[in-house]
Amino acid sequence: MNLQLTEEQKMMQKMVQDFARREVASAVKRMEQEDRFPREMVKRMGDLGLMGIPIPEKYGGSGFDFMSYIIAINELSRENAAIGVVLSVHTSVGTNPILYFGTEEQRGKYVPKLASGEYLGAFALTEPGAGSDAAQLKTKAEKKGDYYYLTGSKVFITNGGEADTYVVFARTSPGQGAKGITAFIVEKDAKGLIIGKKEKKMGLNGSNTVSLTFDECEVPEENRLGEEGEGFTIAMANLDVGRIGIAAQSLGIAESALNHAVEYAKERKQFGKPISRHQGISFKLADMATQVEAAKQLTYYAASLQTQGLPCGKEASMAKMYASKTAREAAIEAVQIFGGYGYTKDYPVERLFRDAKVTEIYEGTNEIQHRVISKHLLNN
Ligand code: CAA
Repeated sequence: MNLQLTEEQKMMQKMVQDFARREVASAVKRMEQEDRFPREMVKRMGDLGLMGIPIPEKYGGSGFDFMSYIIAINELSRENAAIGVVLSVHTSVGTNPILYFGTEEQRGKYVPKLASGEYLGAFALTEPGAGSDAAQLKTKAEKKGDYYYLTGSKVFITNGGEADTYVVFARTSPGQGAKGITAFIVEKDAKGLIIGKKEKKMGLNGSNTVSLTFDECEVPEENRLGEEGEGFTIAMANLDVGRIGIAAQSLGIAESALNHAVEYAKERKQFGKPISRHQGISFKLADMATQVEAAKQLTYYAASLQTQGLPCGKEASMAKMYASKTAREAAIEAVQIFGGYGYTKDYPVERLFRDAKVTEIYEGTNEIQHRVISKHLLNN
């Protein structure tokens, strides 16, 4: 696939590269040490137009194409994958469901605030008993008068606790599986929404992951997103596209691991020559570079389909599955090449190693991506 970028896409790439190298790179140490959500970074990204890259200008966004958005996640994640996932979740599954499935009133009320970074978005699908099998979710929504009352709990909510709006999925019809689920826009101060504990994660320090409890949480009918029973389709349609964002984040981690490993291997001398001159290391680097290139092709191919408005569910799952596996493998090899130093927190490959793993888990585990791809392939 020819990765010729348009002038507009190149402009986005250069702007995000400059921002990432100048501002994101210097924030990494604090985010790592304090595991504190970088709210000021979100504000800065909003000022630069990054919180609404593919959102039409009519709704307060930057009006760039989807490819430019993927380029931005890729570039940010090379410096810091936690910032990459904040942006990916905010846009792909925090804002897009409202843009694509909302009423004109809902779009007008929420999308400009989300696109400017005044609001941060989140997505609440996963529950303690419904992760991969999302259609079995149990949070229920009961309609009384002009309100729905949501009761249940959600786990592993990225951007949770910091978000201003949550796209929440709840059951309006018991016993109807996927067809009984409805989506809602829930504001952070909705009565009955309780923000739970912040997870202490292996990696992605700085990115918030919390549980949510809905205790008869009051949501006005006007905040129902789509029709009753349409929720699962809304979740799946946005996850299809969201997975390209996670592929781009994974690609950023893999590229960073490769770059650090190449630089180190050229400098580090053992047995009288740089370790890059030992075949054991140079072949490792060759394998890493090949996988990174393949992950890049898959990610940008899926992004180009979405940019052209073509179906991309299968390609998004392929990109997410392959790029996340590549991120993990490249990070493991980078630690190996750095040897004992790679196992310390003094070098960035240790963080890449911890950050990589979750990309094989969230937005659908890689086992679920196999299922999605094979379903497309076999039509069953
Ligand atoms: N687009 C639109 N609609 C879709 C769809 C898609 N890609 N896939 C399914 N649907 C709809 C269909 O309309 C279908 O209805 P019909 O029977 O009328 O065709 C209905 O949904 C049910 O489809 P399935 O029978 O295929 O559903 P399933 O129960 O077998 O589950 C699944 C499919 C792919 C396994 C799905 O449950 C899934 O994706 N699971 C993983 C969940 C996930 O990705 N969670 C991520 C949480 S968010 C996150 O991680 C963010 C973060 O923090 C980074």
